[in-house]
Amino acid sequence: MRYPPHLLEEIRSRLPASEVVGRRVRLKKAGREWRGLSPFNAEKSPSFYVNDQKQFYHCFSSGKHGDIFTFLMETEGVSFPEAVERLASEAGVALPAPSEASRESETRRRGALEVMELACAFFEEQLAGRPGARARDYLAGRGLDGEVRRTFRLGYAPPERYALRDHLAARDVPAELMVELNLLTTGDDIKVPFDRFRDRVIFPIRDVRGRVVAFGGRGMSPDAKPKYLNSSETPLFHKGRMLYNHHAARKPAHETGRVIAVEGYVDAIAMTLAGHPEVVASLGTALTEDQLALLWRMADEPILCFDGDGAGRRAAYRALDVALPALQPGKSLRFALMPEGQDPDDLLRTGGPGAIDRVLDGARPLVDVLWSRETELSPVDTPERRAGLAQRLREIVGGIRDETLKRYYRDEIEARLRSLSPSGARPPQPGRERAPFVPRGRGVPAAPVSPRLTARASPLLARSSLFSGGSSSREALIVAALLVHPELLAREAEELAEVEFEGADARALRGALLDFAAEGGAGDTALLDARLERAGLAAAAGRIAGLVRPGDRWVLDPHADPVRLEDALRQAVILHRKAGTLHSELRAAERALAAEETEANFAWLRDVKNRLSVVAGAEAEAEAAQEAEP
Ligand code: UTP
Ligand code: MN
Repeated sequence: MRYPPHLLEEIRSRLPASEVVGRRVRLKKAGREWRGLSPFNAEKSPSFYVNDQKQFYHCFSSGKHGDIFTFLMETEGVSFPEAVERLASEAGVALPAPSEASRESETRRRGALEVMELACAFFEEQLAGRPGARARDYLAGRGLDGEVRRTFRLGYAPPERYALRDHLAARDVPAELMVELNLLTTGDDIKVPFDRFRDRVIFPIRDVRGRVVAFGGRGMSPDAKPKYLNSSETPLFHKGRMLYNHHAARKPAHETGRVIAVEGYVDAIAMTLAGHPEVVASLGTALTEDQLALLWRMADEPILCFDGDGAGRRAAYRALDVALPALQPGKSLRFALMPEGQDPDDLLRTGGPGAIDRVLDGARPLVDVLWSRETELSPVDTPERRAGLAQRLREIVGGIRDETLKRYYRDEIEARLRSLSPSGARPPQPGRERAPFVPRGRGVPAAPVSPRLTARASPLLARSSLFSGGSSSREALIVAALLVHPELLAREAEELAEVEFEGADARALRGALLDFAAEGGAGDTALLDARLERAGLAAAAGRIAGLVRPGDRWVLDPHADPVRLEDALRQAVILHRKAGTLHSELRAAERALAAEETEANFAWLRDVKNRLSVVAGAEAEAEAAQEAEP
């Protein structure tokens, strides 16, 4: 924004420089000027001058020179417009209205919110009226009618292609804005953009102030694809940084001192009906660090509620990995697992509010969940396996950023590890339904490797230095397992998209796998093969398979145990991410030490290096084992 010079002059003339500067620097009259110690340099004899007639200051020790605006900018770090605004209001000078550009963006934002509100009201009307009869039945069948409908502002998008568009157009909403807000579907091959939400029940998504910023639309038939269609990212909607029901949950969360996070829209509504309005839902994604930060602002120990199935457990573990580095003294998470195959909505209907309360009361602390994950991953019945477990746990705990909390976690983990050894005391394990350390007999089976991949694998290529790198075998395991078992993509695609791969082959194949998953081909291996062939990636697939360590080659068996396979895949992804995180932490520690040579920073760097060498050592061993293989 540009301010007219006469206005700046007006402000300067009303506010003597000595007055503005004098609030920060003790000034003494020196002839026609004022003198003081430089605010920019430490000095013993004053060399800083202010001249009210000339309306400026001059600092001989630093060479800085300017007026009241630059003084505020230099000493308080504010921007020029901010300095002008503050001094103008002090001087009682009226500034012109905000510039054209900033006014325009403000109007646009307000306009966008108004359009979303119009759309929301339209969907609500449709649900209440004749077009909404079937949707009303559907909702009533799920126990979502009457007051709930109004509280959550549920709606219905009619099946016609242009219903919402025409409604908004009649209210002078430009089509581009509808597209920008993702209310219309558009694309290169679409001549006339049409309503994105059609024949779906609408769940409005509101921001923290309750304003509608996006929609989730549920298809009513059991085979609707996708089940929920959501607004994609728009200028108003950033799904990783918002929580469904946030605005309504804030007050009750504050009053009860707790907040519950569930996975689905309907689950959040069910929790509210069960007497827990302090509930939010993540928006169909894995919980992000931003969302965690929002939860921690509402309560110290948010309770994360996950479905009682494999996917729910995986989601819980993923949340754990996201939360761990950010844990603080007093700030943690608890995990509530629903009974097998049920989500909060199912549970409320089958067991009533009492069943929900029992699940919430049984929520387990994060440290317990971490411990079970690591100990149930594989048996801990030999010293080697226990040592492996110890190494994994120490590495994970090392990722906690808060030093104090990290110490407490180390103590706790070490105590638990000691109790595993035959000489160690075995403390009772309360609140466990199943014995914690059941060896599951996981030897390496003589598994047939999928002929689809071995046919193309060339052991020579696989060992060439081109394809060996720190994390190559782990990358290979992840990619190759998905190539042989593309049915896993349905659940793992999101995870896969986030993994950082080093190898060019791994990256190219990942791209193909994600495209394949996006097209919904997931389970069909023949289709996948054809696609790889077409993309010229068949050889790459062979090379990747050749990089999988001998001990892991069972994942290439088309008939491998799916549960074990998922575990192996998940563990590989976690380890891979860990290695990536360690490298970033190493850089952070090096920077910290360069900035400040303190004992703590030295200790940090040593610690990261130790942890890295542990990972690197394990990797080198595995690599060597592979070389030794005939
Ligand atoms: P779920 O598949 O667990 O559905 O997805 P749900 O919440 O139990 O839904 P109902 O009870 O069948 O109606 C959990 C959440 O994941 C997102 C939605 O936010 C949903 O509430 N999701 C799910 C999508 O965004 N798209 C989908 O296709 C499925
Ligand atoms: Mn459900």
